[in-house]
Amino acid sequence: MDQIQLLELKVKELSSLLDAFKELNTNIELNEVFNNILMQTVKVLQAEAGTLWVADYELEEITASAAIGTTKETILNIKLKINEGIVGKVISSGEPYFIENVSEDPSWAKRVDETSGFITKSMITVPLVANQKVLGALQLLNKKGDVFFTDVDVNLALALANQSALALQNSQIYNELYTMFMSVITTLAKVLDARDPYTAGHSERVARYAELTARRLGFQSKECSDLYTAALMHDIGKIGVSDDILRKPTRLTQEEYSLMKQHTVIGADILSNLEPKSTMKNAVEIARYHHERIDGSGYPDGLEGDEIPIYARIVGVVDAFDAMTTIRSYSNGKSFEEAAEELIRCKHTLFDDHVVDAFTSLLKEANYKTENLGKVR
Ligand SMILES: [Fe+2]
Repeated sequence: MDQIQLLELKVKELSSLLDAFKELNTNIELNEVFNNILMQTVKVLQAEAGTLWVADYELEEITASAAIGTTKETILNIKLKINEGIVGKVISSGEPYFIENVSEDPSWAKRVDETSGFITKSMITVPLVANQKVLGALQLLNKKGDVFFTDVDVNLALALANQSALALQNSQIYNELYTMFMSVITTLAKVLDARDPYTAGHSERVARYAELTARRLGFQSKECSDLYTAALMHDIGKIGVSDDILRKPTRLTQEEYSLMKQHTVIGADILSNLEPKSTMKNAVEIARYHHERIDGSGYPDGLEGDEIPIYARIVGVVDAFDAMTTIRSYSNGKSFEEAAEELIRCKHTLFDDHVVDAFTSLLKEANYKTENLGKVR
């Protein structure tokens, strides 16, 4: 198996895992889950306040991820060191901590009370454990009325903490998987680009231009980042085009050109086998249609105007721009300004008006300099 096949396999594995986890995370914002769990717990245990702490072992700190009570806003800004106070003790030991009179307990991290101005009298702190790993802690402060928490309250808090731990674990696994998925996709794009010395960095630049253009066109930020991922893979079908064609230093013959055109169909075919289907839908369309042109002169299907999906129209424009501005063995490459003029000249005929307007306005504001592009919005 060569490097590309290995990476392809890895993408496939990761993407199906991602799909499975997406089910658990769709429609539910983690913070909302935390807030709900905390709110229920505080209500059931009749606590005056509650905080849900999440441990970050890499940064060696504990962050308040949800809080309920009068000093909520202050608490949410507090970060503790990994071993600090009672929360730190509970997280490092994995054991619940229950005290009637907090003011007499040496483990209490005084600065929390000092910062928040909240007077803590009694407290339950239980660990959030999933698969024997302590992910954080749930802390309940002051039983309402002139009573203290009981053992029954501690057990109840433990049971509710388990629910939080599961939600937290799912979201952390999902994030890790997503990071891995993105790095494999990025590597795959790099490996692809490296096959042709003249296209090094092409996929990444196209993805970046596409994301910026979509943002300028008013797409939501999630849509823009999904477009980035999908656009990274727009030329993935070049896996199926032989090196002699891909690396040919002179212009392609008619026959070679028609083989090269196949990369759109091959790419769409590869990507349509991947999960999650919802993410892949755009990637498939971009791979297949990024060489379609508004007047129907493109390939592979000769689609016209709005028949070409919007994301493919965006990638079509920025891909052409990158090709024009990249030095090839047979051409020196245009300047950003010249290439922008060319895009404008081909509005209506080859390229989508709005997309060209959005992208060329970005380029103009960036003074036609690549290093300024990230700064314009
Ligand atoms: Fe292409």
